[in-house]
Amino acid sequence: PTVNFIAYSGERHAVQVPPDTVLMRAAVDNGVPGIDGDCGGQCACATCHVYIEAPWAGQLPAMSEFENDMLGLASERRDSSRLACQIPVTPALDGIEVRLPEGQH
Ligand code: FES
Repeated sequence: PTVNFIAYSGERHAVQVPPDTVLMRAAVDNGVPGIDGDCGGQCACATCHVYIEAPWAGQLPAMSEFENDMLGLASERRDSSRLACQIPVTPALDGIEVRLPEGQH
């Protein structure tokens, strides 16, 4: 599937990833700036904070309590905030738009 990362500046990066790659890996492995993923995807750092809005937001796996707690550490949390390491890019998410915050922490 294709993932469209949209930087805070508005710059777009479209990347192709194998099915079920998590969004954090999709960004880091393709050199997309703006997602750090310091903990390697363990839901323990909140440096993979992203915003995912409708209509994509409704197709994501539900947020775990743990993800919700970790998002408490992210700056500029919004209703659309998610942690990119907790979201596998299934074929149904082909074309998803993922907006990056101004910075991580
Ligand atoms: Fe650390 Fe997502 S990579 S919480």
